Amino acid sequence: MSTQQALVLESKQGAFSVKSDRPIPQPGVGELVVKVQAAALNPVDWKVQAYGLLVENILLFFQGFYRNEKAAFQQFTTVPAELVAKIPSKYTYSQAASIPVALTAAIFGLYGPRPIGIGLNPTIDSEVKRTGQPVVVIGGSTSVGQYAIQLLRYLEFSPIIAYASSKHSEHLKSLGATHIIDRQVTLLPDLPSAVKKILPTTSSELKVVFDAVGSTETQDAGFDCLVTGGELITVNSSSKGDRDGKTILAVFGTVHLPHGREFGKILYKKLPSLIEHDVLVPSRVEDLPNGLNGIVAGLDRLKRNEISGEKLVAHPQDPLN
Ligand SMILES: NC(=O)c1ccc[n+]([C@@H]2O[C@H](COP(=O)([O-])OP(=O)(O)OC[C@H]3O[C@@H](n4cnc5c(N)ncnc54)[C@H](OP(=O)(O)O)[C@@H]3O)[C@@H](O)[C@H]2O)c1
Repeated sequence: MSTQQALVLESKQGAFSVKSDRPIPQPGVGELVVKVQAAALNPVDWKVQAYGLLVENILLFFQGFYRNEKAAFQQFTTVPAELVAKIPSKYTYSQAASIPVALTAAIFGLYGPRPIGIGLNPTIDSEVKRTGQPVVVIGGSTSVGQYAIQLLRYLEFSPIIAYASSKHSEHLKSLGATHIIDRQVTLLPDLPSAVKKILPTTSSELKVVFDAVGSTETQDAGFDCLVTGGELITVNSSSKGDRDGKTILAVFGTVHLPHGREFGKILYKKLPSLIEHDVLVPSRVEDLPNGLNGIVAGLDRLKRNEISGEKLVAHPQDPLN
């Protein structure tokens, strides 16, 4: 067998379709061929189609937006051997698939060495602590936000204040959030005062905010929460603009480009142990039907903001319908 099924975007801002005659990619030096059992859907996947991002000079396009043979929305892909991790037996393929993109954004921004992150724990060392330092995670229920909360708990930040819908309170507290500010009750302009009401019980000032949404409104609110000298980490990778003595760190979370490769190797070495020991719990998942065909409807739901607190996961080996 030398061909496979793959989800293809045949032209910039064109339609997705599944093709059955795509070549199975061949591994380069130091690479593995991986049979893709589960592939998570991430917001960038619909943005690539809708906005025509990252498809200049590329005729065919899959989820891995750097090279087609490294994409996930196909039955076989290639990956560098130094960037894979064994899945602990207590988790399914779907749960494992929920981890890479969302975790990478969170851990690059928080733990990654400067300039890729704010350098809280560049060696992912269990001895590093920030005990009692307060932090706010805007978008605590996003997949990225859920990993950010867990990474902050590992460093013993406290309080960990999550801005999210209150329906997720119990789950976010199980991941390490100490306080939930309900985004249906407190609108973003009122977030700084809501945060202040929680902070006076601690002795520290708010020096770190993680924005897991990345809109102008969430960034404005995040800046307003910080003290002078504080740092806003945002998932909006094109954000710029320090203000009022506060700095912004825009995350570009990928282990597959040179800037993130060395930190990525550390991450994949430590990842099995972090998962095995429940430092990091995978996101809740919804399995999509119809193999690669199921991705298109799933991306539409993501685009319409219909996904709350979980990851959609496709199964490329399944029949198309
Ligand atoms: N820069 C990077 O490297 C990188 C990497 C990965 C992802 N990202 C970006 O990170 C963002 C999150 O990705 P994801 O996969 O984690 O998303 P996701 O889980 O699909 O996000 C859905 C969640 O967004 C929450 N949400 C929407 N608007 C909100 C707001 N104004 N305030 C608080 N929460 C809000 C909803 O919260 P409720 O359910 O609580 O209402 C919902 O649970 C996306 O913009 C994505 O493109 C960036």
